[in-house]
Amino acid sequence: MRTKAGEAPAALPGPIKQTNEDTAMAEVAPTKPTEQLANPFRPGNGVPPPFLAGRDGLLVEFDTFVAQQPLHPNWTLTGLRGTGKTVLLAEFAAHAEQAGWVTLHREVGERHRDDGRLADALEEDVNALRRRLSPLAAVGQAGEDGVRYLRPRRLTVGELGYEPAYEGRAAEAADRMRAAVSELDAAVRDSERAGALLLYDEAHLLADDRSRERYPLSGLLAAIGSVQKAEPNVRVILSGLPMLSLNLKRARTYAERMFGHVVVGNLARSDAWDALAIPLAASHRSFALSVIGEIVEGTAGYPYFLQFFGAYVCRSVASPDVSLDAYRGVEPALLHELGLAFFEDRFEGATPAEQRVLEAMARVEGRVPLSRLHAALPEVSGLNLLVRRLVERGLIYRATRGAYDFALPLFRDHLRRRAEVTKVTRSVTTGRAGAPGR
Ligand SMILES: Nc1ncnc2c1ncn2[C@@H]1O[C@H](COP(=O)(O)OP(=O)(O)O)[C@@H](O)[C@H]1O
Ligand SMILES: [Mg+2]
Repeated sequence: MRTKAGEAPAALPGPIKQTNEDTAMAEVAPTKPTEQLANPFRPGNGVPPPFLAGRDGLLVEFDTFVAQQPLHPNWTLTGLRGTGKTVLLAEFAAHAEQAGWVTLHREVGERHRDDGRLADALEEDVNALRRRLSPLAAVGQAGEDGVRYLRPRRLTVGELGYEPAYEGRAAEAADRMRAAVSELDAAVRDSERAGALLLYDEAHLLADDRSRERYPLSGLLAAIGSVQKAEPNVRVILSGLPMLSLNLKRARTYAERMFGHVVVGNLARSDAWDALAIPLAASHRSFALSVIGEIVEGTAGYPYFLQFFGAYVCRSVASPDVSLDAYRGVEPALLHELGLAFFEDRFEGATPAEQRVLEAMARVEGRVPLSRLHAALPEVSGLNLLVRRLVERGLIYRATRGAYDFALPLFRDHLRRRAEVTKVTRSVTTGRAGAPGR
C-alpha cells in the first residue's frame, strides 16, 4: 500500500508539557526584523537553540540512564539561569520517549511550595501519564480518582516513612503523592512502556519549610522512593538553580542515594565556538573569526549570552558579513541592552544592603576576599548573611575559601558601567561639575 508523500505517521501522543503561568518568563521578544538578513540565534527562556552545543556526552549518559537500572534512579540537573537546563529537559524527554518511556515536563511554580498544591499537580500529572499508558484505563479514571481522594492510604513507617514532624495536612498531602506515584508505577507495569519519567523544572522552589510545616520536597521524595525499591519504573529529574542540591540535603538524609547529580554550566570554548559558527554556516551570514573569538571570550561560553550576542549582532549589522569594526560599532549598544534585559532586574531584585555588597565587589578585580568586603563596608551589618543570600540566588559564588566572585560573566562590567552612569547623573542633577569617565 502506498502512502502519500509527506503524510504524517499515525499520531502517537508525544511528551506532555505542563507550563506554569505563575513564573513563566516572557521570551525576549524578537524586535521586528527591519532587514531581510537571516538571524538564526534564539535568546529566550527554554527556547531550543539553533545548535545544541557541548551536550553530546551528557545525552549519551542520559540514554544509558533510561536504558539501564542505574545506581541512582533519579537525577538532579542544576545550574545558573541561562545555562540551558530547560532546553536539556526537553531534549531528555525526547530521548526518553524514543526509548519507549512516557514523559511529563512540568514547570513548578511558587504555589507548589504548598504540599497540598504539589499533591494536586502530581495527581494531575499521573492522570495525564496514565491516559497515555493505557487509554482504556482512562475511561474509568474519574470514578477511581474519587475513591482515591476519599480513602487516602496511610504510609507505612519504615525506611521511607515520614519523620515524626509530619502531621495533619502535610501527612495527607504526602499520602496523596505516594498513592498517585504508586498508581503510576502500577500503570507502567501493566503497559508495554519502559517507564514513566517526570521532569520537574524550577524544582529549587520545592524546599521544605519546617517553620510553616510545609514539606513538599520530602513528600515528593518519599513518594518516588517508595516505588523505586525493586525496579525504578517511575523516575524523576529535578532541575533548578544550584540551591536545589542544598534543599535536597536538608529534606531527607537518603536523598543522596536517590539522586545522581548533573551540573550544567558555561560551554567550553570550542563548544561555544560551534554554538555560533554552526548556525551561521547554515544561514547566509558570516562573522569574522575575530568576532566569533571576541564573543566566545566576552560571554565566557554562557549559553544565554551566546544566543543574545549572536542575535543582537545579526539584527543590528546591516551587512551579511560582520567585520570586527562593525562588531565594535554595535558592542556598546549590545552591552546596554543586555544590561536592561538581563542584569537590571537581578540588581533591582536585591535589597539595598545586598546591592551595596555587589557594588563593593564590582570595584575589585577578580576574586574578592570576604575580609576585603568587611573592610570596604564597615557599616553594613550581617555581611556574611548577605553574601550567603547572594550565593543562594546565584549572583555570586564562593570561588575559594573565603573569597567570592560574580557567577555571571559581564555582571561586574555591568555594575561598573551602572555606577559610572549613576555618578554622572548625580553630578548633572546636583549641578556639580562631575568628572565622567575613568
Ligand atoms: N547547549 C547550548 N548551546 C547553545 N545555546 C544554548 C545551549 N543551551 C541553551 N542554549 C540557549 O540558552 C538560552 C537559555 O536556555 P534555557 O534552557 O532557558 O536555560 P535555563 O533553563 O538554564 O535558564 C536559550 O536561548 C537557549 O537557546
Ligand atoms: Mg529554565
